[in-house]
Amino acid sequence: MTSFRAPRGTFDLLPPRSEHILAVREGLAAPARRAGYRYVETPALEDTALFVRGVGDSTDVVTKEMYTFTTRGGDSLSLRPEGTAPVVRAALEHALDKGALPAKLWYAGSFYRYERPQAGRYRHFSQVGAEALGTEDPAVDAELVILAADAYAGVGLRGVRLLLNSLGDQRCRPAYRSALQEFLRGLRLDADTRARVERNPLRVLDDKRSEVQEQLHDAPLPGDWLCAECTAHHETVRELLGDAGIAFTDAPSLVRGLDYYTRTTFEFVHDGLGAQSAVGGGGRYDGLSESIGGPSLPGVGWALGVERTLLTLEAEGVELALPRPVDVFAVPVGEKAARVLFGLVTALRRAGVAADIAYGGRGLKGAMKAADRSGAAYAVVVGDRDLADGVAQLKELSTGQQRSVPLADVVDTLREALR
Ligand code: HAM
Repeated sequence: MTSFRAPRGTFDLLPPRSEHILAVREGLAAPARRAGYRYVETPALEDTALFVRGVGDSTDVVTKEMYTFTTRGGDSLSLRPEGTAPVVRAALEHALDKGALPAKLWYAGSFYRYERPQAGRYRHFSQVGAEALGTEDPAVDAELVILAADAYAGVGLRGVRLLLNSLGDQRCRPAYRSALQEFLRGLRLDADTRARVERNPLRVLDDKRSEVQEQLHDAPLPGDWLCAECTAHHETVRELLGDAGIAFTDAPSLVRGLDYYTRTTFEFVHDGLGAQSAVGGGGRYDGLSESIGGPSLPGVGWALGVERTLLTLEAEGVELALPRPVDVFAVPVGEKAARVLFGLVTALRRAGVAADIAYGGRGLKGAMKAADRSGAAYAVVVGDRDLADGVAQLKELSTGQQRSVPLADVVDTLREALR
């Protein structure tokens, strides 16, 4: 024991839960990979200004939740609170916008937000994300929503609901913004929130406080102000989702917590999570590239919370199909047998069979216990008598059935049996 603990709001992942997380991460990424999205990795740290300008300087994520520090060299860096601004930054830095479009990218990794920790809300968490850059085609919005829905279905989640909205674009947003401001100026709000009304009125709609929410029932909604192009875009997305058999609920007040969204926005929610009901979300961000000083590069994407997805799977009682950690466990009795079996497990691994061995000169009983605990299908037991006869005992652990196999045939026999 030590008095050191993982920092508040963070956690260690240990087997077997760590393997559940791995399976969820792989499962969530699988549909996007099947749709031609290619893997991208960006640093855990970025220039603070990337998030201030990209995500928005009046969002909670930027003003309250970033881990920001000055380096020894005097630069302001932040741990990434999200992955979209970094992916767009990387795409521009490496001129993907000049290549084949859309550039379809996926990622998985750690993100950091200084939030008040509670069930399903951490300061360090992981997301699987997908972004399609360089097209305004509404079919790509629909593709991404379908891939996210399929991702949840693929890991076995059932009770997830999709909320869908459109926030309009730079053509229709200004008129909506003015109408919203006019409405908000008539409410009882504290000085900070009133200042927010002037700077970024959409953020006020996302205010979580009940005294604010209860005054917002009659607030104008983005959907009532969409221009013809945005309406047509949204209709196409809705039709394509319908054609694909994706159930969704229109959520006219869904604004999301990041400033870069235009047109399509969506969130996947689950009731098994308590207050933190969003398991994933995303949308279109046609102006993000310009807001970080780039050329026009429309985009759309999502990020799915890995821990929250696992929590909902646990709430639903879904058993994840996990590969066995090892297929074979070697049980040596005596030093000579330990030498021989050490060589044998190396040969098994090289032949593609997952194998482990009891270390530390444990007796037969202790080593058999380790074999049972390992989850292996077979134990290979060898003692001095077996060595003299040139054989090993292959024990099928589920049935207890045992047979003697020549040492030279063990690898082939096991490979065959495990096929
Ligand atoms: P977001 O809605 O902020 O979107 O986060 C996506 C998901 O990450 C959430 O639905 C949730 O499952 C998970 N998540 C967020 N914060 C926490 C936390 N503190 N603890 C545990 N899980 C959390 C984005 O990040 C956008 N970049 C999504 C996107 C991609 N939009 C377009 N492209």
